[in-house]
Parts: sequence; C-alpha cells; structure tokens
Amino acid sequence: MSYSVSFPGGDVSYEFESSFGQQGYFNPENGIIITDSNIARLHEERFNGYRTIIVPGGEATKTLQHIDSVVNQLIGLEADRQTVLVGVGGGMVTDLTGFVAAIYMRGVSFCFVPTSLLGMVDASIGGKNGVNFGDYKNMLGTIRQPSFLLFDTEFLKTLPQQEWSNGLAEIIKYACIFDNELFEQLEQHDIDYYQHDQTALNALIRRCIDWKNKTVQEDELENGVRKLLNFGHTAGHAIEQKYDLPHGAAVAIGMVIACKISEKIAGLSPDITSRLIELLKRYKLPATLDFDADEIMNILKMDKKRTRSTIDYIVLEFLGHAAIRKLSLEDIREALNTFAHGSHNQPR
Ligand SMILES: NC(=O)c1ccc[n+]([C@@H]2O[C@H](COP(=O)([O-])OP(=O)(O)OC[C@H]3O[C@@H](n4cnc5c(N)ncnc54)[C@H](O)[C@@H]3O)[C@@H](O)[C@H]2O)c1
Ligand SMILES: [Zn+2]
Repeated sequence: MSYSVSFPGGDVSYEFESSFGQQGYFNPENGIIITDSNIARLHEERFNGYRTIIVPGGEATKTLQHIDSVVNQLIGLEADRQTVLVGVGGGMVTDLTGFVAAIYMRGVSFCFVPTSLLGMVDASIGGKNGVNFGDYKNMLGTIRQPSFLLFDTEFLKTLPQQEWSNGLAEIIKYACIFDNELFEQLEQHDIDYYQHDQTALNALIRRCIDWKNKTVQEDELENGVRKLLNFGHTAGHAIEQKYDLPHGAAVAIGMVIACKISEKIAGLSPDITSRLIELLKRYKLPATLDFDADEIMNILKMDKKRTRSTIDYIVLEFLGHAAIRKLSLEDIREALNTFAHGSHNQPR
C-alpha cells in the first residue's frame, strides 16, 4: 500500500505492508545501504548486490566518530550527489543515516527501512535525525524528511523480545496521549497476540504512524503539539541515563511518574494510573523503580527543555488527552519524592 504524506519540510512516500526486495525507489547503482552488524548478520541475503556500510549495533555508534567512518566509506564507495542513502535498521541506524545524508556533499537523498518496532512507530518518522555528543543524547542533529519509508514487517521476525517491549512503550505512550480506544485495545491483548496476528500488528503500527505523522504535520519544528510526544520522557530520560535502563523501561516508569504528577496538578483520575501500571506489566515493562530523587532532579535541571526555574512537563488530563504544563522544579521534586519512596520494586 503506497501513500504520500506532506510535511512543511517536504513530501514523504510511505510504502506500507511492503517488501524490501520489491521496491522501485533505489537500486544497486544509486543506492548505498547503511545498516548495523546485527541486522547485516540476520538479513545478509537481503543486501546481496548492494554496496553496504555496516556499523556496529548499539547506541554507542550514534556519534561523530562513527559518522566520520561512514563518510570515509562513502567516499571510498564513490557516493555522489545522485546517491540515495538507505538506512535499514532501528532508530540508531535511521538517525545516523539521516544525519550523514544531511551533511554529505551538503545533502544527498535518503530513505529509511525501519527494522525495529520502535523504529517503525517512532524513530523513522518525523524527520529528526540526531546523534549523541559525549553524555548528551541527540545533542547534534538535523530536521529533514526522508524521501520515502518502507515498512517490511518480515524484519520483525528476528527482533529480540526486549525490543518488542521497547516499541510497545512508545505505542502505549500514543494511546495515553491521543487514543483511549487504542489503550482499551491494548488492554485486551499482549505481545504474543501481536507477534502472531499480522493483520493486528499492521493495524497497530499504522495507527501509531498516523498519530505521529499528524503531530509532526502540525508542528514539524516542535514548538507546540509535537512536545506532547515527550510524555514519559522527561523523568524517563533522566532515569535511563542514571540507571542505564532500556529506553522503553525508562519511558514506562517516566509515564507512571507523569501520571502521578497529573493526578496532583491536572485532575487525572488515579484509576488511569492504575490501568497504565497494569498495561505496562502486560507488555513486560516495569512500572516502578527505587531511585534517588535528588540524583534524578540534578539530571532534570540540565534538561534542555528547561527555561529558568520551570520545566515543560507533559501531563494527562484524561486518558487520550495530554497537555503541556510549566512545572516548578519544586513541584517535580515533590512528586519524585513521593514516587521514589512509594516504590520498592526493582525493574526486571
Ligand atoms: N528521530 C527520532 O525522532 C527518534 C525517535 C525515537 C527514538 N530515536 C532514536 O532511536 C534509537 C532507538 O531506536 P531502536 O530502539 O530501534 O534502537 P536500535 O537501532 O539500537 O535497535 C535496537 C536493537 O535492536 C537490533 N535490531 C533492530 N532491528 C532488528 C531486527 N529486525 N532483528 C534483530 N535485531 C534488530 C539492533 O541491532 C539493536 O541491537 C535511539 O538512538 C533514539 O535516540 C529517534
Ligand atoms: Zn522514546
């Protein structure tokens, strides 16, 4: 199924329920694949005939040092302004590919074939392409849309279980902030169901893509509604950094913290927080963590979204409806303290 989505920064063609082997956008003459070592090993035969740049798998690769190496390889492969860079991988690969494509020869065409669930529902969409700098995540980056996105769920057959949960954390996020029907649907099922029902999985991915596209179309540069996508990510990022948790696990805990804050300042019913906690468990995500509130506060103070003494925090007013509130550091400290003391379970 093909369709096109218009963003202020350009049109993107979507090839949904598609097959990597049967696309007409690039060929071995103009396309250069960029992928990571895990995907290259598991899907080697798919890249036959293509010039392929393989970077090490893992977040540590999303740095300028690796960009340097990729650029060197592009020069070695005689990539020119007609070349299309094809990022085949999870969010690490697609971010890196988008970044390189923005700077190589002052910009070449690029496209993405997301291979992780998180990549399909989140990272490959929206045109943000960031790389890390030292301890700072996505500190350097560009906003530039790929020419097309190809979704081939065959790739998900080799996706590790942990990565399914990571993707589902973002899916649960969309349900919380935009879509109470989706939340109810998720409450009826589990990971196993989506892994075995291709139609349900495609519908789930498509629904999330549509939410993200709609949000980015309204606010490509993240001045308003796109900020809602940070639900669960403010405390989540701090926890991820401090406790070295998988992104999905940290966002899961961050969403619960955001709900507790929402109960206090936005009138969210505590029932919704309880339902979220149950839903996270259902998708093998943690909902609690013993953490040091002061340490997390110190990291939050560095948050790039902070303006003077307040932080733009995404809260839920009710299920399926989020809002941006400016919270004082004191409000957040208080909420974190309650949460840190009220929970004594370590994540899985
Ligand atoms: N640009 C954006 O808007 C945006 C949004 C969200 C996240 N991100 C970025 O995305 C990254 C996270 O994405 P991710 O979770 O996909 O990470 P990832 O790309 O590191 O992939 C996670 C792991 O799964 C493996 N993998 C991916 N597809 C596979 C497959 N089909 N079979 C087997 N293994 C596979 C990878 O090798 C890796 O080990 C972060 O760098 C984050 O900053 C970007
Ligand atoms: Zn996220």
